[in-house]
Amino acid sequence: MKIGVIGAGTMGIGIAQVAAQNHNQVVLIDTNQEVLNKAQKGLENTLNKLLEKQKISEDQKSKTLNNISFTSEYSELNGSSLVIEAIIENLTVKHAVFSQIESVVSNDCIIASNTSSLSIASIGSVLKNASRVVGIHFFNPAPLMALVEIIPAVQTSDEVLQKSKKIIDLWGKKAVIVKDTPGFIVNRVARPFYGEALRIYEEGIADFATIDWAMTEFGGFRMGPFTLMDYIGNDINYTVTETVFEAFYFDSRFKPSFTQKRHKEAGYFGRKSGKGYYDYSEGANQPLPIKDEKIGKYIFERILVMLINEAFDALYMNVASKEDIDIAMQFGVNYPKGLLFWAEEIGLNVVLNKLNSLFELFGEDRYRPNPLLKHLVSTNSNSINKLKILSF
Ligand SMILES: NC(=O)c1ccc[n+]([C@@H]2O[C@H](COP(=O)([O-])OP(=O)(O)OC[C@H]3O[C@@H](n4cnc5c(N)ncnc54)[C@H](O)[C@@H]3O)[C@@H](O)[C@H]2O)c1
Repeated sequence: MKIGVIGAGTMGIGIAQVAAQNHNQVVLIDTNQEVLNKAQKGLENTLNKLLEKQKISEDQKSKTLNNISFTSEYSELNGSSLVIEAIIENLTVKHAVFSQIESVVSNDCIIASNTSSLSIASIGSVLKNASRVVGIHFFNPAPLMALVEIIPAVQTSDEVLQKSKKIIDLWGKKAVIVKDTPGFIVNRVARPFYGEALRIYEEGIADFATIDWAMTEFGGFRMGPFTLMDYIGNDINYTVTETVFEAFYFDSRFKPSFTQKRHKEAGYFGRKSGKGYYDYSEGANQPLPIKDEKIGKYIFERILVMLINEAFDALYMNVASKEDIDIAMQFGVNYPKGLLFWAEEIGLNVVLNKLNSLFELFGEDRYRPNPLLKHLVSTNSNSINKLKILSF
């Protein structure tokens, strides 16, 4: 199959690698020749490392490289079955690129966007045949992260959706189907991992190191929120939060934090700038957590119930199925368990009680428990079925 990838930046080169390793002919396009050269060198280095670690053979390495052509010529997309756009996050530029793609490919070529925050409906609106638009959202680094969110827009045909899912399945990824809503699954449901941690810090309950310790020690998360935000970059993570907040018409559940904003403004982006919530300069002293079990458990439980509430909201609003919401959080952000499964394990009534206590204490809309959770508890059900709530 011939696959086009537009943009040879962080995501584009990763997606091209995945497609090429799965025996597709890939045309990787970038308007910047330097970026193309860098992407080619970077891929060679990556494949050499995989070869050293005996994860791939010499033959696989050369086949992968030979499967990709690095070019700035859009005409080379001719004959593609699928083109995935991974250029800068700007609707005007994406529109121009989508029209350019459509002018060279055949009418049955699927045109996908890897956007994290724009609606697929808005991106596809410039196409003459908009039934071929779909969101195919990979996670960074694309070759390592198993999750891919597939997002049909209101214009997308069922055939395009099914074909896209089949391709992603064939590439060995975990494809979940998500409604075209802000943040899709992962960037929506994960918000409290950062937001509630920042809020707990702002309330003076604990410092960064202690909050991180609580989440790894009691929750089994691979990284605490502040370590993770420093890893992602506070500039990027803050912008995602702000975008989701605006896209949800300023729902206070997604309210960004001043602490993170100040870190961003100061240039404390995290690892890439040498300083974030932690200091990454050589020999810097790392703060130690205060390992108080009572505080640690409080922090973990408060963040977890907020995450579960968000997962319930995604389910209740038909953003995705129960299974897909749990898969997304396990394979898109490496959570130790699916959040809805976790809720059933803890007991829905326990989760609801904790949310109710927070809601009562703060009186803020941000802590309002989800109606589906309330309904299930009121009907003594501990198993999460997507129910229509018809009583009031
Ligand atoms: N970085 C992430 O973690 C991540 C994760 C998931 C999705 N995304 C999304 O993927 C997309 C790309 O993000 P990125 O981080 O790879 O960006 P990036 O800045 O690393 O790369 C974008 C590339 O697009 C190229 N480009 C710009 N205009 C072009 C055009 N008209 N034609 C061809 N190439 C063009 C640029 O030269 C650049 O190399 C964005 O929509 C982003 O929201 C990013």
